[in-house]
Amino acid sequence: MTVIGTGYLGATHAACMAELGHEVLGVDVDSVKIDALKDGRVPFYEPGLPDVLTRNLEAGRLDFTTDYERVAEFANVHFLGVGTPQERGSYAADLTYVYAVIRDLVPLLEGDHIIFGKSTVPVGTADELQKLADELVRPGASVEIAWNPEFLREGYAVQDTITPDRIVLGVRRGESRAEETAREVYAKSIAGGTPFLVMDTVTSELVKVSANAFLATKISFINAVAEICEIVGGDVTRLADAIGYDDRIGRKFLGAGLGFGGGCLPKDIRAFMARAGELGADQALTFLREVDAINMRRRDRVVQLSRELCDGNLLGRRITVLGAAFKPNSDDVRDSPALSVAGSLSLAGADVSVYDPKAMDNARRVFPTLGYTDSVEEALEGAELVVLATEWQQFRDLDPEMVGELVQRRTIIDGRNVLDVDKWQAAGWNLQALGRTL
Ligand code: UDX
Repeated sequence: MTVIGTGYLGATHAACMAELGHEVLGVDVDSVKIDALKDGRVPFYEPGLPDVLTRNLEAGRLDFTTDYERVAEFANVHFLGVGTPQERGSYAADLTYVYAVIRDLVPLLEGDHIIFGKSTVPVGTADELQKLADELVRPGASVEIAWNPEFLREGYAVQDTITPDRIVLGVRRGESRAEETAREVYAKSIAGGTPFLVMDTVTSELVKVSANAFLATKISFINAVAEICEIVGGDVTRLADAIGYDDRIGRKFLGAGLGFGGGCLPKDIRAFMARAGELGADQALTFLREVDAINMRRRDRVVQLSRELCDGNLLGRRITVLGAAFKPNSDDVRDSPALSVAGSLSLAGADVSVYDPKAMDNARRVFPTLGYTDSVEEALEGAELVVLATEWQQFRDLDPEMVGELVQRRTIIDGRNVLDVDKWQAAGWNLQALGRTL
């Protein structure tokens, strides 16, 4: 099989499919990425992936190329995993790269091929791509487009790809070979008990965006309740524990704090709203506007709380922001709440030091004007306020006494509700947390 697009999704999919025993060729237009992968280097941080990559390169089951001619000859099964970022100046998804793949690849194909789309796309895209492929395909050849959405989480990408909690396949109406082929590709997972759900393409496209919209809604729900807790003096973490015991609700994704970011949730809910608008059904998803707004308000709240803790004025105040990645175990800073807070504090005049165990290079690229340090200790030195913005284990494990020796003032905002309040207070810290009155 081939895997087209070797970003987060594609590189992981390619390496993990080889791990499952398939012969895989990954392709990308970015030769820097391809050279790195051929060399056994993963161009982003993902625990476990470098091992899977090198093991399968060495075993000869995995290779990478920039050459579409080779892709066309190599296999009859292709996975499409290129990016669908938010379009500039609108909420919609930018499908340029998806269409480019069909335009570049399909005219080269001979024989019968199946392209399984994995990228997150607006509902209706697979059918449009099928029409385009039918126009471009050579006489005597055939191309079927099916959709096979990807649900991997950054930080758990290998595990989520090798043992997914479900496999979803969208197949076109009428004659289709996609199910049979997908059953072969995923035979090991299916034999291991992974649910395999076959449906039409539009439903499969909707499954992916609905899942992400639901997760975003769950986080914003608890963060909205956090806003109320802050007014009345409640504790949102105890509340989440209490409602989470109801297994219809569940405790997962009720982590109140700085809210969601990353390359998926924010752009996916916006693209879903944009698509609903195009379909004449904006009302169905207007609530996602609120979900987005609640999420963004959490970032403002941390900036406001920081100002209050700095006697109403951030100018020249030394603030340490712990974390730059959008979540722990990742070096991804796309739409990162941590970096957004650090940036806002800096733009309000504070002297900001940022430290993150893995995301420093990416953060520097996106926000070059912030202060970056080489160690957490250096970042904390002389701080008047500490903001814990990404819950890396290293930050959870910080010793309040040790940190207390480094800072100028023992004041901290726990933006992720992960610190042991009693321990920090016992060490003389003024600890503030989102959704709680301490
Ligand atoms: C998400 C989906 O989980 C995954 O299925 C999909 O394929 C891609 O998008 P990911 O972006 O890797 O995955 O991150 P996820 O673990 O879902 O976290 C998203 C954001 O929500 C992070 O910023 C995280 O900090 C935040 N979050 C998560 C909370 O604020 N509270 C929670 O309780 C859980």
